[in-house]
Amino acid sequence: MDLKQGINGQWRNRWTFILAAAGSAVGLGNIWKFPYITGENGGGAFVLVYLVCIALIGIPIMLAEVMLGRRGRMSPINAMLYLSRESKVSHWWSGVGWSGVMAGIFILSFYSVIAGWALHYFILALSGEFYQIDAQASGAVFSGLLANVGGLTLWHTIFLLVTLSIVAAGVVKGLGVAVRYIMPLLFILMGILVIYSAIVGDFFAAFHFLFDFNGQALKWEGVLVALGHAFFTLSLGMGAIMAYGAYLPDKFSATNGEITGKISLGKTVLIIAALDTIVALMAGLVIFPIVFSNPSIEPSAGPGLLFVSLPIAFGGMFAGSFFASLFFFLIFIAALSSAISLIEPTVAWLVEVKQWPRVKITFLLGAIVWIVGLGTVFSFNIWSDLKILGSTFFDMLDFLTANIMLPLGGLLIAIFVGWVMKPSIVKDEVGDIHHGYYRWWYMILRYLSPILLALVFVITLINKLGS
Ligand code: TRP
Repeated sequence: MDLKQGINGQWRNRWTFILAAAGSAVGLGNIWKFPYITGENGGGAFVLVYLVCIALIGIPIMLAEVMLGRRGRMSPINAMLYLSRESKVSHWWSGVGWSGVMAGIFILSFYSVIAGWALHYFILALSGEFYQIDAQASGAVFSGLLANVGGLTLWHTIFLLVTLSIVAAGVVKGLGVAVRYIMPLLFILMGILVIYSAIVGDFFAAFHFLFDFNGQALKWEGVLVALGHAFFTLSLGMGAIMAYGAYLPDKFSATNGEITGKISLGKTVLIIAALDTIVALMAGLVIFPIVFSNPSIEPSAGPGLLFVSLPIAFGGMFAGSFFASLFFFLIFIAALSSAISLIEPTVAWLVEVKQWPRVKITFLLGAIVWIVGLGTVFSFNIWSDLKILGSTFFDMLDFLTANIMLPLGGLLIAIFVGWVMKPSIVKDEVGDIHHGYYRWWYMILRYLSPILLALVFVITLINKLGS
């Protein structure tokens, strides 16, 4: 047995980790958020900036985050405490973990409300509600849901309860097994939908919208959104991936048919990022052909884009009710495996420091998340006119987490691994990796990622002040 093992458990093999991390990464961010922010920010140029952010900032920082988790072998706060002691620097570095705790609670609070929409749509689809539905009727269904405070609260509660039950039971045992079936199923279904959407919708308009470079459509604000989304979609900057990294053993025995020696983190991270990006682009290719073949749906429709456009496609489709219910169920599952990773770091930390039962900790935290979530529920109805700095409670939480807290957390992680930790430790911990690739990663993490991050922050700030 591996002596370096935390009290919150350990993955069975490398693929369990990959699937769990991919389960965390692939979620509402890919299927719901990516299409609508692409629509709001004009398409092609935004997509390109997003892809560049994934490659030059997201992937290097993901590798850094997994590495910190595996070396720290504990929840993010404690891992950062341990690592700052090891590097003989201030214990204030554990602030990375603290900001992650807050970000996780904030994100989960609205994530649960949106995942609740998917649950509601699953039931609607089952009951044949979308049969032959047109754009107008579909819009009405969605606004009806948003106006229904009781309904939104109910779905939010149900989603959160399911999430909490899984986290209470322990993430390592169940999650790895579950995602083994969910991820392939999600891929197959998305594939079917891309083809269907291309047949019934306007595939070429969608393709040009997503991939033509139209620089004039992108504003600085959009660059910050693209950067923030790179963090959001890869689950970076708050310690989720760090917490999962802590459950990764150094080596797996050869009897599992797995490699011996340090597991290479480089390839592992690339696989996760690739899966995540493919799902997002597929979601765009499902939704936009339908959007462009229905003049009454604007690409810039905002958070309702998925929920307004897809029922129309399913409504006219052979066995549409069946496919629609399957699709919304999969969104629910994808959201579930992401939601778990938003709260797991905090639960793991409380288990370590308080040694209370996991169940108690999970549900106490869940109660806080539930209450904060009501703010998002109200953002779409009774509080819709209540603006904090010009945005609703939901918009504010979304902006604060994705565009500020996560990139800032990422910046600190890059600086810690690139500048604070001893290079020899970093090199050893990253494991088997081609020396050339290692050097590239280390240079990018030290210089390029932090500079790009800081640049986007400064320019956006100047822009904000100037306007
Ligand atoms: N990545 C998930 C998505 O795209 C959301 C998510 C899960 C997340 N865990 C996270 C975002 C941690 C930021 C940090 O839906």
